[in-house]
Amino acid sequence: MDLITIEHFILERQQQGFPSATGDFTQLLYDITFAAKIISREVNKAGLVEILGKTGRKNIQGEQVQKLDEFADGVIQRAMDHTGRLCAMASEEVEDVILIPKKYKCGKYVLLFDPLDGSSNIDVNVSVGSIFSIHRKISDKRRGSLEDCLQPGYKQIGAVYVVYGSSTMMVYSTGDGVHGFTLDPSVGEFLLSHENIKIPENGNLYSVNEGNYHYWGDGARKFIDYLKSKSNHAGKPYSLRYIGSMVADLHRTLLNGGIFLYPLDYKNPEQPSGKLRLLYEAAPMAFIFEQAGGRASDGYRNITEIQPTELHERTPLIIGSKSDVDLAEQFIQGKS
Ligand code: AHG
Ligand code: MN
Ligand code: MN
Repeated sequence: MDLITIEHFILERQQQGFPSATGDFTQLLYDITFAAKIISREVNKAGLVEILGKTGRKNIQGEQVQKLDEFADGVIQRAMDHTGRLCAMASEEVEDVILIPKKYKCGKYVLLFDPLDGSSNIDVNVSVGSIFSIHRKISDKRRGSLEDCLQPGYKQIGAVYVVYGSSTMMVYSTGDGVHGFTLDPSVGEFLLSHENIKIPENGNLYSVNEGNYHYWGDGARKFIDYLKSKSNHAGKPYSLRYIGSMVADLHRTLLNGGIFLYPLDYKNPEQPSGKLRLLYEAAPMAFIFEQAGGRASDGYRNITEIQPTELHERTPLIIGSKSDVDLAEQFIQGKS
């Protein structure tokens, strides 16, 4: 098998698809891989950081050991703000739009990210991830604005996730299929390992925090009861897998098929809501799943069609193999 680095792969694809492009977008994708390598290095020594932390020592740069999600957020911002490719960023860890400091050039792209997804799993050595969504600048403000961040998912020009698992993998789409790369840590390169990923048409796995069962609506409860029944369309119950890191749960779903749900719940009956964030969790994953032949819905609409109104807006998320998501919608809408 050829040894193809992510840099080489991206460059070749961009030159084929957009021969007159300036290269800024390609460079932005490289910047993301760079940030991911640093986060991966830090995640991999998380257990050690803890041991060192307990001795009261500072880390190798002489800084206090930080919580990893703050660390990851800082790495991404610092890898991006000075490049001249972005006009704005938004992060799960930061309340407002992150504008590019005045001393740096402003670019034509917007980056929204969840720096560390599943961070509660870090302490128990379970996979975590990072998620990135890329949009074009649309506002006529010289520097970026909230308007540039609040764009529906179908307008993304790229989406990336990184899973820090038994190995570190990066999976991305720029609207031309979905491609996966595995990090060889000894040389610091992501190498092509999964070209043109397609999600199976249907699966036999479901993934959901079933502890919330009694908070869900009728439709979601009936759907899960149906998947578990012996007389469902598959003729045998689906199996349950739930890691509690969305990136890791969705990475498995993308490769093996099946369905992941974080449905609407009524924990707060006055304000029923989903948990996952639209702009930097649901929308980029939806873009990747659609590109792989899957689907993502909030129960009624495609996730990528939702017009966001707030930076940290939450949404129910039902994502996976097409026929499984179609069926979930039927139940949620009370049609099955
Ligand atoms: P984050 O760590 O970025 O806040 O995201 C956590 C999310 C997601 O990764 C996961 O699918 C979900 O929270 C798990 O929630 P429950 O613990 O409610 O199942
Ligand atoms: Mn998250
Ligand atoms: Mn997070």
